[in-house]
Amino acid sequence: MLKPKIEKALNTQIKIEAESSQAYLAMASWAETEGLGGAAQFLYQHADEERIHMLKMVQYVNERGGKAVIPALKQPKLSYKSLTDLFQTLLDHELVVSNEINNVVEVCLAEKDYTTHNFMQWYVAEQIEEEALGRTIMDKLRLIGSDKGGLYLFDRDIQTLTITALNTPKQ
Ligand code: FEO
Repeated sequence: MLKPKIEKALNTQIKIEAESSQAYLAMASWAETEGLGGAAQFLYQHADEERIHMLKMVQYVNERGGKAVIPALKQPKLSYKSLTDLFQTLLDHELVVSNEINNVVEVCLAEKDYTTHNFMQWYVAEQIEEEALGRTIMDKLRLIGSDKGGLYLFDRDIQTLTITALNTPKQ
């Protein structure tokens, strides 16, 4: 049986993962309407991944005798100044998520719930990967600057980054 503090922390995280998925879906849609098909594809897949993060946690809470709360979601941001603006927002968001994951891990240790602590390690590893990917993308965009040709190639190549990310073994 999950302790109340653990259940609460996990339900907070469920909402964060759901809002991440919704935010990336809105980013994908914006990129698609801007003619950035590669970035859109990448972001649609990223939105799906976040939904899986949420789903995994919903099922864990319920399996451990808790009650997962499926949350109402806030309206995500619908437009961006540029692709750089979008990916900076994404990276900043992932840094916030990492912090929130660390908070859940801290609650696990304080409550001596080593099973949930173990479950959370998958999320800790996932955040390392996502932060690294976000930084790689921002490095590329900084190099490109306002060069339109560079942006065209970036939009084509980001699909390779997607494939690499998808091929990374997951637990
Ligand atoms: Fe599931 Fe990118 O946080």
